[in-house]
Amino acid sequence: MYPSELIPSDPRFGSGPSLVPLQFIDALKDAGVHLIGTSHRKAPVKNVVKGIQEGLTKYFNIPSDYQIVVGNGGATFLFDMIGLGLVEKKSAHFTCGEFSNKWFKSHKKVPWIEAEEFSVDYGQGIDAKNVDDADLIAMTLNETSTGVQMTHLPEVDENTILAIDATSGAGQIECDISKTDLFFFSPQKVFASEGGFFVAICSPKAIKRALSLNEDKSRYIPEIMNWKLAIDNSAKNQTYNTPSISTMFFLNEQVKLMNEVGYQGALELANKKADLIYGWAQSKDYLSPYVAETKYQSKAVATIDVDDKVNVDEILKDLEKERIVYGIDGYRKLGRNQFRISLFHNITFEDLEKLTKLLSYIIEQKL
Ligand SMILES: Cc1ncc(COP(=O)(O)O)c(C=O)c1O
Repeated sequence: MYPSELIPSDPRFGSGPSLVPLQFIDALKDAGVHLIGTSHRKAPVKNVVKGIQEGLTKYFNIPSDYQIVVGNGGATFLFDMIGLGLVEKKSAHFTCGEFSNKWFKSHKKVPWIEAEEFSVDYGQGIDAKNVDDADLIAMTLNETSTGVQMTHLPEVDENTILAIDATSGAGQIECDISKTDLFFFSPQKVFASEGGFFVAICSPKAIKRALSLNEDKSRYIPEIMNWKLAIDNSAKNQTYNTPSISTMFFLNEQVKLMNEVGYQGALELANKKADLIYGWAQSKDYLSPYVAETKYQSKAVATIDVDDKVNVDEILKDLEKERIVYGIDGYRKLGRNQFRISLFHNITFEDLEKLTKLLSYIIEQKL
């Protein structure tokens, strides 16, 4: 029914969970009995964690006095862990969508700290700044719900932690980690693994804050959210409790793959794909980028509004039924007639080009 030359080689264009290359699954099978079913205190699993930590250090050129803390639970889990154990008195949150707002709300519930929100309407971007009475600044590198990127890193006070939720931007939206104190992400986006796991890259300032707040016994912090336990285990290439080995394995494979092109190479590829998608949206009168201001248009997740004369849900339903394209519906709570298309590293330029042509072909037949 659809022209065969317009069918992408892989149907997965979702903004997370994302495209896990099939060769990673084969590699996992090859590792087989020597990895799967092994304790995380033993060398085969510790070597995977070490591979992730060393590979990310190389990829991001992370300063040697930073520590890569890993654990179970993902970015949502970290929102609470940060609120409980990294904020002294007050956090300031720069929000522009569902995830940045969720982080703010999680801190708002912690009884012993204050949380302040600086927000803009959805679809708009915001630049974080230092807030005098806040000791942690929270910003989101890529707001996955709206497709807004925040790349401006504010200068913060000497005693303030600059914390970045980089979940869907880490790896392909430029960010100098040496200018941040906490750069964290879940690996089911650009890093092509599965959920339920976190990577938190911590500066000496963040480690110092975590260890000093750990001494404050008036705060009840569940052991599973204890920063000191996470830091100490990660220093030994372990997680505090039992992890999903396959998730860490896929992440390690992706870090290796991305190191083949290098950080600059991955950024260039992301820019090229972003030019393609936003250029397409601008060239068609039935499309428009949801994020109007160019500097905030995400290089990892593109949100494209579609003329109301065309029903996006109907188009996507059929493409899913035919198993041609998955996961490009707009963020459910936004409720817009919109495509949200992932530009993540493993989605090829060629497939994205086919996707744009395919969508144009379908829409133009309906108009
Ligand atoms: C920007 C951002 N932050 C946080 C999260 C939550 O991540 P997780 O589901 O791994 O907890 C997501 C998930 O999509 C996200 O996109």
